Amino acid sequence: MSAPLIVVTRRPPGRALDILAEAGEVWVWPEDRAIPRDVLIDRVHDAEALYTMLTERVDAELLDAAPRLRVVSNMAVGVDNIDREACARRGIRVGHTPDVLTETTADMAWALLLAVSRRVVEGVDHVRAGRWRRWEPELLWGVDVSSTTLGVVGLGRIGAAVARRGRAFGMDVRYTSRRPKPALEEALGVSRVDLDTLLGTSDHVVLTAALTPETRYLIDRAALERMRPTATLVNVGRGPLIDTDALVTALSEGWIFGAGLDVTDPEPLPADHPLVELPNCVVVPHLGSSTRRTREAMAELAARNVVAALAGEPMPAELAATRES
Ligand code: GLV
Ligand code: GLV
Repeated sequence: MSAPLIVVTRRPPGRALDILAEAGEVWVWPEDRAIPRDVLIDRVHDAEALYTMLTERVDAELLDAAPRLRVVSNMAVGVDNIDREACARRGIRVGHTPDVLTETTADMAWALLLAVSRRVVEGVDHVRAGRWRRWEPELLWGVDVSSTTLGVVGLGRIGAAVARRGRAFGMDVRYTSRRPKPALEEALGVSRVDLDTLLGTSDHVVLTAALTPETRYLIDRAALERMRPTATLVNVGRGPLIDTDALVTALSEGWIFGAGLDVTDPEPLPADHPLVELPNCVVVPHLGSSTRRTREAMAELAARNVVAALAGEPMPAELAATRES
């Protein structure tokens, strides 16, 4: 029996390829850009394992082109790019990379929250433009962070890590989630409210929820209208949690103070997009987990998921066929 074919859609960092090579014959898309869809469809024909980035859509069409596939391993915690039910119907296991990126992603949420609140990017622009002439009592006033109210939308692993940081800033922290999380409430000193209450009472709102049919455009025009004019909004989940056009209106008309976005809709965002041009919006290019340590850990965990699945063993991070929380 020949070694199973493992198709990898983009060269992963760290030791991932060495780990994969122990379990089969590895084919890697050699170019420094996302693999074209037709190349991928062609390539997966004999694949038993598919190692993907969040840029690949794994749907019924792709799976139908891969009759021997046994496992899809996403080098990301979010799996909205994967049709999990279509995988389950074909007996294909799905892996992802939780935990290893939690703290790093929570750090990015806080980097954005602080940058927007304290106008760090506008300050840098001010200095670079040669406009820093003297100290001014009213130069670039921001909004306070310490001892204010933080609203965390989605209290998963990343949401809990964001909330813990908020408590260290002396914040009153509230959250929304589909189910109450009494153990976390107790451990972190946070309380569950409904979304309208969270939006209406928080000085800073951080989105960490997974993208699902229920959370798509969760932050629409009505939600933004509910927020305080001094509030900030941070998104480290997925771009489509927010209605982009409504956010552009809210930021230009001062419904909220500012926004910090690690993820956008569309993604990537063109340089001439209004969100990029608005001074009260800080956009970074999906860098939530982007440190060497974390990206290498994600790549290696995704590789170990493949190795375990091909051996018919429990995967280090396997997803159930349907969403659980
Ligand atoms: C990144 O967005 C991830 O889901 O890991
Ligand atoms: C989502 O799965 C998270 O880690 O918050």
